[in-house]
Amino acid sequence: MTYLESAVPLAPTQPEFELAHRTARLKSSLVRDILAAAAQPGMISFAGGLPAADLMPPLPLEAFANSALHQYGTSEGEPAYRSAVAEWIGSMGLEVSAEQVLALSGSQQGLDFAAKLFIDEDSPVLVEGPTYVAALQVFELFGADIASVPLTAEGPDLAAFEALLATRKPRCVYLIPCFQNPSGTCYSPAARAGIAELLDRYNVPLIEDEPYRSVALDVEHPMTPICALLHRASWIYLGSFSKILWPGLRIAYLAAHPALLPHLVRLKQAADLHTQRPGQAAVAHWLAGGTQASDLGKLCSGYRLRRNAMQAALARHFGDIADWQTPRGGLFFWLRLRGELSATRATLDKALAQGVAFMPGEAFFPDPLQGRQYLRLNYSRSTPEEMERGLATLAACIRGA
Ligand SMILES: Cc1ncc(COP(=O)(O)O)c(C=O)c1O
Repeated sequence: MTYLESAVPLAPTQPEFELAHRTARLKSSLVRDILAAAAQPGMISFAGGLPAADLMPPLPLEAFANSALHQYGTSEGEPAYRSAVAEWIGSMGLEVSAEQVLALSGSQQGLDFAAKLFIDEDSPVLVEGPTYVAALQVFELFGADIASVPLTAEGPDLAAFEALLATRKPRCVYLIPCFQNPSGTCYSPAARAGIAELLDRYNVPLIEDEPYRSVALDVEHPMTPICALLHRASWIYLGSFSKILWPGLRIAYLAAHPALLPHLVRLKQAADLHTQRPGQAAVAHWLAGGTQASDLGKLCSGYRLRRNAMQAALARHFGDIADWQTPRGGLFFWLRLRGELSATRATLDKALAQGVAFMPGEAFFPDPLQGRQYLRLNYSRSTPEEMERGLATLAACIRGA
């Protein structure tokens, strides 16, 4: 039994009851499993995407004390929350009405809805390679036949993207254009325009997922949502407050093309009736208040210091064995190991046994073999001393692997 298995017990393999066929495709999320292992005392964790608790603004507790919000609410969401979110999305460059906004219980719920809306067994779906591990998890659950487009420093390789649209005819495309998880890539304006033109030409719906947009440390160009550039293709735009406010509240949103919204509202009704109301009120209060700029400024300054400390520690311990781009936003470093070196689950098990957690690259590709040379490291939760110690241990594990 590996260290990970002992920390995260496996479910019995032969249930005595009949399950839906799709459960055969239901994989455990490596991230969630590692998070459980990483919660052991003394562990240095570079594994999760957890924001730093010390950089979150105080929670407006009045929202939770308001008994009017303890009653059931509407599936679409609280009116004040939907209008505040429509304005917030408008400030990013995507003009939507409050009626186009649906409150979500985490943007992960939006991925679940998108999968239910577009994916039958063997439906072709196109994602970035690498991409968000829990998006792969839900797309695979619904039976998607997933292809990935390689990422360059500017965004997806446009020639490869067009070839995949033409040959695979995907039901939908899933992209994370701002500070992509895991690679940190932020699409250039030209890449955004190129993707929008191709999606319109091939008339393929876009799911644009942007939880890291406001964790922007060094941005040199406008990050116009690709949904705002579409004229013909339909779209779902997903956003979340998990990375900038209080992830435990699970408050997020989607905005969608008017033709898709009624289906999404019904999926919401069927899933959980509605998103919790006090959390929506707390976020609406923050959106309407005057502290956004200073709160986000404080958050980004704190993350900039941690990102820079991680960059310096990485240069010391990984400088001769890996290559990476310094992330300009988001919460991760994405490393490519040189030569024959790899960071597999075996490496992870070894590192966990020595008190260090990280995410092996294999989890982020539809074909895990593509990820053997990669690893993702979160920088938001470790002190400089933990970075130094943890990265020294991890580099030794990889060299000796
Ligand atoms: C790309 C991406 N999408 C969605 C999510 C889910 O976020 P939420 O907390 O809003 O469900 C995450 C969380 O890490 C993410 O990285």
